[in-house]
Amino acid sequence: MLPLRRLLFAAVLLPGVGWSATVSISCGAVGLELTICREGAEAWARETGNRVAVVSTPNSTTDRLALYQQLLAAQSPDIDIFQIDVIWPGILHRHFLDLSPYVEVHRLQAQFEVVVENNRVDGRLLALPWFVDAGLLYYRADLLQRYGRPVPQSWTELGETARIIQVRERAAGRPRVWGFVWQGRAYEGLTCNALEWIHSHNGGTIVADDGRITINNPRAAEALALAASWVGEITPIGVLNYDEEQARGVFQSGQAVFMRNWPYAWPLVNGEDSPVQGKVGIAPLPRGGAEGRHTGTLGGWSLAVSRYSRVPAEATDLVKYLTSRQEQKRRALIGGYNPTYRDLYESEAIESANPLTGELVAILEQAVARPSRITGVRYNQVSNAFWTAVHTTLSGKRDSASSLARLERRLQRLNGDGW
Ligand code: GLC
Repeated sequence: MLPLRRLLFAAVLLPGVGWSATVSISCGAVGLELTICREGAEAWARETGNRVAVVSTPNSTTDRLALYQQLLAAQSPDIDIFQIDVIWPGILHRHFLDLSPYVEVHRLQAQFEVVVENNRVDGRLLALPWFVDAGLLYYRADLLQRYGRPVPQSWTELGETARIIQVRERAAGRPRVWGFVWQGRAYEGLTCNALEWIHSHNGGTIVADDGRITINNPRAAEALALAASWVGEITPIGVLNYDEEQARGVFQSGQAVFMRNWPYAWPLVNGEDSPVQGKVGIAPLPRGGAEGRHTGTLGGWSLAVSRYSRVPAEATDLVKYLTSRQEQKRRALIGGYNPTYRDLYESEAIESANPLTGELVAILEQAVARPSRITGVRYNQVSNAFWTAVHTTLSGKRDSASSLARLERRLQRLNGDGW
């Protein structure tokens, strides 16, 4: 018989012989995100006899990227699973394991192809899709009805309706009501908002798919000038420092007629404790003029396993569990997170929890991608230059045309000999 100490030693080294791993996962914490992530991870831990450590990260995508870059550059094993934004594969890919040997082909085929392909770099599958996002218009259905206004189809119409309702609500004794709130802080969220204004005016995508820098064009300048005209009029000046949660805070407390946000806000604005519960509708974002189109920036998140993980097998297993069809369905029902499996959009249960589900496939198909694939490792610098130029115009420091001309020169320098 082996002495007890040797037996214990063997148990520590051999997975499966009473060995349990602790897997740490970094999840976002916007709205219900952290709670829902923890519930899912803990369910996996109970099923497999492992343990999980859930690490929350900053709300701002931009701050989160900076934190991840620090941890990964130091090859830190502290986080095994990273929740990564749709725009990061080109920036972070060398730090993640190739998951393709561990995922069944039919599982990938059941999901939106663009989302799966977005996670492949040089043939390596470096993350599994978790949920997709697209920018949406939230509106106060009760106020539109009270003032006899339809859901706006163009940005100009949105501006008019916002102004009319804001004036009349204020006159009726609600002085803090604003027309339209969105994400105007100088960070990635502003890139998403501004891309929507510009793309909906047929002003392109900053950098085209073939790498040409297209941002310096009259439609983009028109779109940006229109947005700048909202600030201080139908949009509080404070929006220049708002992220998703701050915009939601204003809208949910009943102080805005319209809000641009992602789908996660839907269950929250309709929560038991929400002053606007049952009074809200959602619709595609408005078109830029008669020739323009409805659009929404494509967002979303995936789960990747760190190359520096000491428990890669367990981490991969947890990623597979969390991104499974069943777990995505649970997350859609309670959190409004849009699944990456196509057939879940036909689920009646999900449709009744979220009235836009039926339309979401079309909205996702029309969604505009940020130029992260073509600009690869330089995407964050491109986006930073873009949101800085936009912020300068929104805050009245430089007009939109000269802001975009300067931005073009900045992007040309970043581009150098090609992306
Ligand atoms: C959402 C989107 C993400 C985007 C971010 C910007 O989380 O899913 O893709 O980068 O918002 O704030």
